[in-house]
Amino acid sequence: MTALLYGGDYNPEQWPREVWAEDMELMRRAGVNTVTIGVFSWALLEPREGEYDAGWLDDVVATLDDAGIGFFLATPTASPPPWFTRAHPDAMPVRPDGTRLTHGSRDTYAISAPAYRAAARRVARFLAERYGRHPRLRGWHVHNEYGTVDHGPHAEAAFQRWLHDRYGTLDALNDAWTTAFWSQRYDDWADITPPRVTQYLPNPAHVVAFRRFCSDEMLAAFTEQKEQIRAAGSTAPVTTNFMLPTWNHLDQWVWRDELDLVSVDHYLDTPGPDGEAHVAYGADLTRSWAGGPWLLMEQSASGIREGSRLAFKEPDRMIRSSLGYVARGSQGALFFQWRASAGGAETWHSGMVPHAGPDSRQFDGVVALGELLDRIAEVVEPPAEGPVVEADVAVLWDAHGWWSLETPHLPHDGLDYATEVRATHRALWRAGVAVDFVAPGGDLSRHRVLFVPSQLAMDDATVEWLTRYVADGGHLVVSRFTGVADEHERVVTGGYPGRLRDLLGIRVDELRPLADDERLRLSDGSVVDQWTERVHLTGADPLATYADGDLAGLPAITRRASGSGTATYLSTRLVQHSLDRFVADLLAAHDVRPVLPGGLGTGMEAVRRRAAGGTYLFLLHHGDRPLRVTGPGVDLVTGTSTAAGIVVPPGGVAVVREDGPGAEWAVTAS
Ligand code: GLA
Repeated sequence: MTALLYGGDYNPEQWPREVWAEDMELMRRAGVNTVTIGVFSWALLEPREGEYDAGWLDDVVATLDDAGIGFFLATPTASPPPWFTRAHPDAMPVRPDGTRLTHGSRDTYAISAPAYRAAARRVARFLAERYGRHPRLRGWHVHNEYGTVDHGPHAEAAFQRWLHDRYGTLDALNDAWTTAFWSQRYDDWADITPPRVTQYLPNPAHVVAFRRFCSDEMLAAFTEQKEQIRAAGSTAPVTTNFMLPTWNHLDQWVWRDELDLVSVDHYLDTPGPDGEAHVAYGADLTRSWAGGPWLLMEQSASGIREGSRLAFKEPDRMIRSSLGYVARGSQGALFFQWRASAGGAETWHSGMVPHAGPDSRQFDGVVALGELLDRIAEVVEPPAEGPVVEADVAVLWDAHGWWSLETPHLPHDGLDYATEVRATHRALWRAGVAVDFVAPGGDLSRHRVLFVPSQLAMDDATVEWLTRYVADGGHLVVSRFTGVADEHERVVTGGYPGRLRDLLGIRVDELRPLADDERLRLSDGSVVDQWTERVHLTGADPLATYADGDLAGLPAITRRASGSGTATYLSTRLVQHSLDRFVADLLAAHDVRPVLPGGLGTGMEAVRRRAAGGTYLFLLHHGDRPLRVTGPGVDLVTGTSTAAGIVVPPGGVAVVREDGPGAEWAVTAS
């Protein structure tokens, strides 16, 4: 690849042919080199069961070919056509309350229904045979955002088979699920259903097992399509677009092994400045899942619905966000979608070409981004060795951790996995350091500090992995409600957190959540909320104690030294500004330095991307005053040397090819 990919979902089937010609002209102006076609086109492609009509898609492909534009070809299986519903009503998904959904929206399929799986395989094979060797095919975009959960009879049968494979015997399952409670003991696999609406609380082990089953089942559906593509002789890379950040139905660490390219859709759910931290979070997470280069498959060009209204995105923010992803290893910046639809369910979702047309500030921004990506294209070549971004700090990410905290009736309803992980990542982002996410058991050889945010359930292997990390000199920071349960959500008794008592050198005998409006102080001046624990020291030292409340004088933050490593425990929730300070102090203590001195304090975000041609410093200015950045290199955006300093205006960007490794940079007011 010699260019960063630029473009988006292209749905010309929504428009008359004369618009297609204008599209090609506008794509040329904007520097678009890649589109994704066919994402939801099943009804056009296969108007009746088994009868394909790809003439229109041939024309789309030919139009793109003439314009020199590459394409990802989607399999349309996220949106079965109306005839499919009529022919296979049993293949519609069922909600936990028994409601069977029907077409009229999208994503209406029961993932385990044989008729659905067969139809999906057929249409994937048809597309692969017809377009699988096209020279402009950049890759396969299988399905779209896997995530429809089915609780119906097909899921039930598949879940039972999966449970049988996983647990082997009903005795093992009954034991793991603690079915002795509330007379849930199973005597026949056939009695185990997906978790459905029931009189009172469900069994958390049952709920989490079903989440894992769903991830595995969706993965099986994905790999079946991939097999069809390969069987048809297409060797193009195969991906599917992961989705961030509001729901998580997939275990990405398992999925990534099946993907030739990890790609993601990321729509900011955070208005205002915190959105920038959110971009960094999504990009760091996806890069880590990928283990190298990856692709931002979709983002919004401007407005999307947030809460009760359309949230507008300024063009300069759209450019900064796009570079935030590219800085962290994305192979380009793609959008949903090229042209904003004039009708249909997402009429008010922005496009690269807005309803107003090309004569608009927004399209000017799209053209500007295309020019910019062209100027920095050399960053796309991966480094000969080593990671795309070098990080000294890691955060544990685990889908099981997410699913555990979505079980009901935990000690506090405010526990939310993504919120916990993002608070930690936000503090690291504000400190200006690069961050990796790691899987349980992942490679920590380059990470001096590892954070483990609220990971309720933990298996033996993870405990051993963390213990070894500390023994080898790593600095581990564990947040509350971590390692309290085994992998079946069963509390390890004898004092919390049963899995990690020895490693942390503490024993907790009481969990004491706070009232909603309650805040406490710690002896070091930190402010905490939501949660406290009564901590006894069994080898750790207190770093801070509760200064007020029922636990005044008792340890709140502890640290146990083990050789040259340490294991720190936060028994409460530090509010964000206190967490920021705690993290910044910790990083300084372990000599983890920000990319730019002062971190994000100036408003200037800095990310270093490694590439074949050297290192590239991405500077994204989120602040409101011009800043001068000085250091050895050339800004590829303007073509100027940075040795005597360049001024980056508020909202502006620079991408500097650095003169050699270890360059020192300074940021000053301009
Ligand atoms: C997802 C989907 C798109 C579109 C956007 C809207 O990313 O893949 O089809 O619905 O969300 O935000």
